[in-house]
Amino acid sequence: MTRTAKKTQPPPRRAPSRGWAGAGRGRAGGIPVVKQWRGSTSQVCGLWPFATGAGTPMVGVPLGRNLLTGSTLCCDPISWFQRAQLISNPSAFVLGRPGLGKSTLVRRMAIGLAAYGVQPLVLGDLKPDYVATIEALGGQVIRLGGGRGYLNVLDPGEARSAAARLTGDARVEVLADAHSRRVTMVSSLLTIVRQTPPTDREETIIDRALRVLDDRHPDTAPVMSDLLQVVRDAPQDVRLVALDRGDRARYEQITENLEASLLSLLHGGRLGGIFAQPTSVEMRRDRPVVFDVSSIDDNETDLQAAIMLACWSTGFGSIAVSNALADAGLEPRRHYVVVLDELWRVLRAGKGIVDRVDALTRLNRTRGVGMVMVSHTMSDLLSLPSEEDRMKARGFVERSGMVIAGGLPSAEMPMLTQAIAMSRAEQGMLASWQDPPAWDSRTGKEADPPGRGKFLVKVGGRPGIPVQVTLTGAEGAVHDTNQLWHVQSRVGDTEVSEAAS
Ligand SMILES: Nc1ncnc2c1ncn2[C@@H]1O[C@H](COP(=O)(O)OP(=O)(O)OP(=O)(O)O)[C@@H](O)[C@H]1O
Ligand SMILES: [Mg+2]
Repeated sequence: MTRTAKKTQPPPRRAPSRGWAGAGRGRAGGIPVVKQWRGSTSQVCGLWPFATGAGTPMVGVPLGRNLLTGSTLCCDPISWFQRAQLISNPSAFVLGRPGLGKSTLVRRMAIGLAAYGVQPLVLGDLKPDYVATIEALGGQVIRLGGGRGYLNVLDPGEARSAAARLTGDARVEVLADAHSRRVTMVSSLLTIVRQTPPTDREETIIDRALRVLDDRHPDTAPVMSDLLQVVRDAPQDVRLVALDRGDRARYEQITENLEASLLSLLHGGRLGGIFAQPTSVEMRRDRPVVFDVSSIDDNETDLQAAIMLACWSTGFGSIAVSNALADAGLEPRRHYVVVLDELWRVLRAGKGIVDRVDALTRLNRTRGVGMVMVSHTMSDLLSLPSEEDRMKARGFVERSGMVIAGGLPSAEMPMLTQAIAMSRAEQGMLASWQDPPAWDSRTGKEADPPGRGKFLVKVGGRPGIPVQVTLTGAEGAVHDTNQLWHVQSRVGDTEVSEAAS
């Protein structure tokens, strides 16, 4: 009875997990785990059809590994715009809590881009975060502030010598650009000194006074005291635009505030005279450049903002000259990536500054310039006093070709998602990266913060690419912005020990 029942039992319909048992029926002894290798297309093409493409773009500066898939991510605003055509303009906005590696990420991009032939221009380094890197790249370091160097904002720079090499419209354009840049810069400095922008009439006076100044100094660069002198001399041209109706007393009344503000830009004035002396070092166009403004104290917020704006203006002026000369076939075409780190310091300098930044940065695509802006949080941008300024500041993020976000507090998310779409998972990821570091009681030291070097690369509404930036030995040796913290001395210690970086 039992034997018959055994015989009639139907065979199982589905193969067991290791396949059918029995000779020739394909039973596997164990299930192999398939190994994965990564290689370039030219290496792995022979393995067809077992090769699959990487999910992340491989065009640009290698940043690190995708946190989810482990694949390499290459990314920088210029390559993604020019070669991969993944973004609509060559700019990136980097956001993240302090100390999580924003400047380090930007340095990596700058190093990689320099290798592609793009010149990094760091227009204002407050820490200094970039000086060692630019030095290592063979670039120019321009030291400003603290009596080490001056930047004359009235200096037309190389625009004059470039104009002498150009003809026709190109010549007119270069001179006009240099002129408007100088007017903008003086107005920006006045905005910072007064905390409000100068009036329309004052801007026109400055504009006209600068023209008079150029006639007086056709071959040399005028300085701020010369401008003040022109305003005091009340030449006919300036009086006309001041609308003094032929009354000198009225002219003096109209220009009194302007005179007072210009005085504060002179030596001994509120901004310390950095802008009042002839420029100490001319910026070069043919190599990486960093303006080292680290000697300016963090408490001097106005001066920091003023000097950064002046560096931006000089930098963009130089790029304009370079482009004009390249258009005319007089110099090779150069591409630049401009780094504007610590943007928040400039934005808080006063009402109307956002406009100046906006004007400086709007034209990057047409000028063949890549740009990387760095700030901490959206709240920095949205804590500006006027609604108009807040909208414009948000525009910096919205208009960027890509947004690279590091660890951010959850409270930031509503503001961030207004500027760029983020899924809830992505928001959770960013929030988790800002957790504080663990305390290792064994070594008595804090571990690295969990979010250090982790970033989410977002392009428009596409899913973000999470990446871990890993420093190479060479980078680690060149720069460490926490240097001062590694030197620890404890009470009772006779020696100061330097921890291995
Ligand atoms: N990917 C990384 N791997 C290891 N260390 C890193 C990494 N990124 C940054 N660091 C280290 O973290 C410290 C802070 O980095 P960094 O100055 O780039 O931060 P930050 O976000 O620019 O800070 P802040 O907002 O204050 O300017 C530095 O000592 C740097 O060497
Ligand atoms: Mg930084």
